[in-house]
Amino acid sequence: MSIAKPFLLLVIVLLVSCNSNKKQVPVSETQKFDVKTVLDLNALKVKEVATSISTKDSFPRNVKKGAKDWDFVDVKDWCSGFWPGVLWYSYEHSGDKILKDEAEKFTLPIKSIAYTKADNHDIGFMVYCSYGNGYRITGNEEYKKILLAAADTLATLYNPKVGSILSWPSQMHKFKHNTIIDNMMNLELLFWAAKNGGDKELYTIAKSHAEVTMKNIVRKDSAVYHVGSFDEVTGDFLAGYTHQGYAKESMWARGQTWGIYGFSIAYRETGEKAFLDTAIKLSDHYINRLPEDKIPYWDFDDPKIPNAPKDASAAAVAACGMLELSKLVKDEKLKEKYTNAAYSYIEELSTETYLSGNTNQALVLHSTGHFPKNSEIDVPIIYADYYYMEALMRIKKEEELLSLSKK
Ligand code: GLY
Repeated sequence: MSIAKPFLLLVIVLLVSCNSNKKQVPVSETQKFDVKTVLDLNALKVKEVATSISTKDSFPRNVKKGAKDWDFVDVKDWCSGFWPGVLWYSYEHSGDKILKDEAEKFTLPIKSIAYTKADNHDIGFMVYCSYGNGYRITGNEEYKKILLAAADTLATLYNPKVGSILSWPSQMHKFKHNTIIDNMMNLELLFWAAKNGGDKELYTIAKSHAEVTMKNIVRKDSAVYHVGSFDEVTGDFLAGYTHQGYAKESMWARGQTWGIYGFSIAYRETGEKAFLDTAIKLSDHYINRLPEDKIPYWDFDDPKIPNAPKDASAAAVAACGMLELSKLVKDEKLKEKYTNAAYSYIEELSTETYLSGNTNQALVLHSTGHFPKNSEIDVPIIYADYYYMEALMRIKKEEELLSLSKK
């Protein structure tokens, strides 16, 4: 079945709803856009694409400017886990067996990452987004074994002197012991493993890593450095840098959102109030600096703004992080604030400006990967699709819970 007709319908529904009321109201009270319709369309598209790339032994990563089809990368690429993750979410929503088969197929090769010497922190992204979702949805015991092995492999990068994971062993010559803000996202695998039969030490490592990141990489201005550099022998913090941002002390959009989401998880898992305060601080600073359409430019301090590319992937990550945060804060006003913020990002990503429709094989347009390297600028990138699907599923589940509680 062609997706053109339902997509057109969706756009009309969204346009009418977007124009009718710009004021944000809690998800609980809104009928502004129908998350189920968006998920139906996304799962349908993902299925069409999955069927057409089913024989590939590599993984979608980005769509080049003007192209229709995904470009693929090897299993060792940090993005390999996102496509299987998109398939798992699409299966979880639709229950379609074809999507499950494809999810299993693309998850399988990532096993090798769990059993190969660690050469970066990205093991978490690769294995938790693929096997983590697979295990959560199916309960497959083989997946659990692989997740536990992956956590042990990731933990080999921990330096007890610094108290953090070495994010990029290959960049020691430049940054010495480096810990990057993105790494906060990969603590979830360690927390999960410690609770699910893995070494309890994994919890201690993850907590210590979050503390070291909070003390040194989160800046006084409520933004974050991309990279923290530490002396690997004394453990001393040496300096903060950027790698993918505009400048050392600028606010690289995706980095800020890795922090928002990562510290929310760290609080959920440890109950350390300082992590919650950090997630709130980073979120508020992010919210306060957003442009009108709520989708950030790739770096908030690029002097070329408004003539700078957006990063839709950061909006998707922020939405997931704030939806998590909204469940952790006790105050009703704060709950509402973060729910509404997240909802507004997903609503915007679901309009014709950001949603790909028939433009190409991706779901979400306009992400920016590595601006300073002139790489992946204003294109679809697979992790935008992954976190967009995650946020939609989170919203769907919240809405289901709410309607149950009303019965
Ligand atoms: N973790 C790499 C990035 O966010 O681009």
